Amino acid sequence: MAYRFYFFCSLSLLLLTHSLSNSQSNQFCEAGIGYGEVGCGLSSSTKLLIKGGTVVNAHHQEVADVYVEDGIIVAVKPDLKVTDDVKVIDATGKFVMPGGIDPHTHLAMEFMGTETIDDFFSGQAAALAGGTTMHIDFVIPVNGSLIAGLESYEEKAKKSCMDYGFHMAITKFDDSVSRDMEIMVKEKGINSFKFFLAYKGSLMVNDELLLEGLKQCKSLGALAMVHAENGDAVFEGQKRMIQLGITGPEGHALSRPPLLEGEATARAIRLAGFVNTPLYVVHVMSIDAMEEIAKARKSGQRVVGEPVVSGLVLDDSGLWDSDFATASKFVMSPPIRAAGHNKVLQGALSNGVLQLVGTDHCVFNSTQKAFGIDDFRKIPNGVNGIEERMHLVWDTMVESGQISVNDFVRVTSTECARIFNIYPRKGAIITGSDADIIILNPNSSFEINAQSHHSRTDTNVYEGRRGKL
Ligand SMILES: *[C@@H]1O[C@H](CO)[C@@H](O)[C@H](O)[C@H]1NC(C)=O
Ligand SMILES: *[C@@H]1O[C@H](CO)[C@@H](O)[C@H](O)[C@H]1NC(C)=O
Ligand SMILES: *[C@@H]1O[C@H](CO)[C@@H](O)[C@H](O)[C@H]1NC(C)=O
Ligand SMILES: [Zn+2]
Repeated sequence: MAYRFYFFCSLSLLLLTHSLSNSQSNQFCEAGIGYGEVGCGLSSSTKLLIKGGTVVNAHHQEVADVYVEDGIIVAVKPDLKVTDDVKVIDATGKFVMPGGIDPHTHLAMEFMGTETIDDFFSGQAAALAGGTTMHIDFVIPVNGSLIAGLESYEEKAKKSCMDYGFHMAITKFDDSVSRDMEIMVKEKGINSFKFFLAYKGSLMVNDELLLEGLKQCKSLGALAMVHAENGDAVFEGQKRMIQLGITGPEGHALSRPPLLEGEATARAIRLAGFVNTPLYVVHVMSIDAMEEIAKARKSGQRVVGEPVVSGLVLDDSGLWDSDFATASKFVMSPPIRAAGHNKVLQGALSNGVLQLVGTDHCVFNSTQKAFGIDDFRKIPNGVNGIEERMHLVWDTMVESGQISVNDFVRVTSTECARIFNIYPRKGAIITGSDADIIILNPNSSFEINAQSHHSRTDTNVYEGRRGKL
């Protein structure tokens, strides 16, 4: 079984967007485009009562009414009485929850000789359709310049139709990058920086640069994030596959096995420990990486582990499909792992070793994926998920009894808001929070497929999945 999410745009969005990312306006609501059952038309109605639902926060749940004025939650209480001019929505038997926040997306990113097919409009439309009301994207520097990178992303984000924030990638390190990091933190509201230990020859940083970056994060009070795979070893693994004549998508998985993710995760954790600064590990895809995080957290080190939906619910069997279009759509890095890793990652999410779920939504259509038809190294890396994340976490984790509904809210929304300093404005249904609200009907159902999804890509790695497993 799957669900339809209802969502409400929040008029307060403009303010938040400015404080987070210095960005532009909320065109989604202005354009009046609604992908949910109840669209943005609601935002023009300034008063709204969501009646009789089970209001779920990470810390608490109760049957209550939620009263919203001008995009802000004004009251959460049972049996609220309101005047006739208030639009009332009956949520009896449904869950009323904070909108999802996706901590890890790449919209309109130039990568591997092309650009992701979802931009800030289509990606956000897909997000809203799937119950995610905010995302945090990664600014990629232009020629190593953070300022030029931010300008470029501010331009891309002019198409935005919902709230977003930015992390920033650090692809080289010198005095000017160091200075620009300070400007980002102090003037631009960007205080999380990502270091790629993979993608040798393009985004990758070596240990010396990582150490410099970690030191600067520490001195600025910013959060260091890491894509943890050993890029030198991946390069070697890729050469080996090509020498063996393995050029298809399965070569992608074979060339960068879990141990390379485990090694880089362990190294990043130890270097962050050496510098004594917190570390956020993005897209934890393997048992190997998860175990390093578990060990560090047990020892008291401040390490956050982010699994992504693809790693939690898929396995690598698709990469061996004889149809290139099918196999190539599963190519992302780190690779989707052999069956078994996904189940263990689910367990780690349920017991708190991993804290929040992202997507790494980074979408290329089948024409773009075909750039690598003769050589897996040229297949643009990335899968979809921004629209499916909430559904699949519910189905995989809540329906199976692995986590509670409160935990669902925590791992899809609240924890992200806390880590990136936007709680309780986001990630909670309490008085004063933004009215980013979804209503989930646990008894509804639909099938995920490329024909009906809102992303611009023509494929979907979750094709045919239904809500109930
Ligand atoms: C869904 O089913 C449950 C159990 O039968 C019921 O209590 C609840 O009211 C239903 N919700 C809706 C919205 O139909
Ligand atoms: C990046 O730098 C190179 C060499 O200095 C230059 O040729 C290129 O135009 C620059 N690209 C951008 C986008 O500024
Ligand atoms: C993929 O996107 C490109 C660029 O927009 C477009 O030219 C191409 O037709 C698309 N391919 C498919 C299969 O939709
Ligand atoms: Zn990513």
